[in-house]
Amino acid sequence: MVIRKKPLAALLIAASLAVGVPAAFAKEAPAPPAQAQKAFDNKIIKKISADNMYNHIAHLAAEPRVAGTEAEWNAVQYIEARLSSYGYETEIQPFTFENYYAPKVAVTAGGEALSSSSFTYTPNGVVTADLVYAGLGRASDVESMDLTGKIALVQRGEISFGEKVLNAANAGASAVIIFNNEPGGINGTLGEANDNYVPAVALSREDGERLRAGLAEGQTISATVSVTDGRIVQETSHNVVAVKKPTQKKKATDQIIVVGSHHDSVPGAPGANDDASGVAATLELARVMANMPTDTEIRFVTFGAEELGLVGSYEYVDSLSQDERDRIVGMWQMDMVGSRDAGDLVMFTVDGEKNVVTDLSAAAGVRTGTPLTYGQEGRSDHVPFYEAGIPAALFIHNPVEPWYHTPEDTLDKISKEKLQETAEIVGAAVYRIARPDTPALERAKVAPKPVEYEKIVGGIQ
Ligand code: BES
Ligand code: ZN
Repeated sequence: MVIRKKPLAALLIAASLAVGVPAAFAKEAPAPPAQAQKAFDNKIIKKISADNMYNHIAHLAAEPRVAGTEAEWNAVQYIEARLSSYGYETEIQPFTFENYYAPKVAVTAGGEALSSSSFTYTPNGVVTADLVYAGLGRASDVESMDLTGKIALVQRGEISFGEKVLNAANAGASAVIIFNNEPGGINGTLGEANDNYVPAVALSREDGERLRAGLAEGQTISATVSVTDGRIVQETSHNVVAVKKPTQKKKATDQIIVVGSHHDSVPGAPGANDDASGVAATLELARVMANMPTDTEIRFVTFGAEELGLVGSYEYVDSLSQDERDRIVGMWQMDMVGSRDAGDLVMFTVDGEKNVVTDLSAAAGVRTGTPLTYGQEGRSDHVPFYEAGIPAALFIHNPVEPWYHTPEDTLDKISKEKLQETAEIVGAAVYRIARPDTPALERAKVAPKPVEYEKIVGGIQ
């Protein structure tokens, strides 16, 4: 698990601070007749090769690409090499993140080994001492107790695990055992690292209640709490960025479009669909666009450490100047766009509102014969862009396939048709605005008229 500067919940919820993007568009760019638009689409679409995308996935999904590992670095080099070979200026952007590795834990009480689990961010330590029952571990429970050198036995409930540990440590405890208030074990966190914590472990309700009953009867119970090998390690991941400068120097707008995906995967999952598919589509669009005349800067970006909390995309957006942020008119994120076993292509925005990206793409979907639906979802690299006030959307097939985040997310489940369809829509939408004969986007003001693509789907289950 990763340690973030911002709480994950905040970045996932985020939506409440939505910028006021008007639903109606003030000024409509004079649209070329439908036939002419299709001809422009074809300049991109006819060049897109599903085989190329499939081959990228075959290469990338040979093994899991966990952030910070050599496998992720190999993927980064593969992506960078492809983008350079298409003639782009590229940059590999390194960043560090802190990764928490859970400790080994063991608990014995009254000479009996008990099944236990750790709390994220517990310090290491091996403590042997007598148990003292300290109720719920609230400040009021422990204020008149001297727990010096003892192991505090505390029940789950009312206040956070971290507060219980701090209160017990304040009263002198050398370690804390928290037992459950419902059946089963606890998979808990102390929230963040804190020098004032003492080693903390979890027990089941059954074991905890038995120890509490023994103490209540006046027994002296000696226990050992052992927490070893937990650690926080600084690791390095990378984003890959390729920039296509406007080819029309004189007519160039100062606007920027970002086409993105993430190249890392979760441990144990080859990530053929999540998200080698999006990377493959990003690469193929970069290849197809490479020599096209454009008046808008296009950045093709693959992010690292997405699975650890969108770390790479937050790094990328943090690295942008305010001027660059103001110039980015849209961000297209492709994540899980090639599964044969998933549903239809959906555009998810963080706030569930349409924006320039969804409008351009919906219109492109109508032209290419794949009507798109909408929904509201975070959970991918469009989130940091949205939070920076940039129109952004996640392109994903919904409902997602059963292989999501499993070892079964492999090449054989990839559909060339799904890849083709996604790349066509994103490619046509991006080219519609990047080509020299269309006027610059007035951010959040100019977009094609809404057409018959009104179906809204719910968030992803
Ligand atoms: N590709 C998924 C995003 C996703 C999956 C969106 C299914 C919607 C439905 C992405 O790689 C992912 O797994 N994201 C994390 C969240 C992230 C903030 C760590 C997730 O959804 O658990
Ligand atoms: Zn993903």
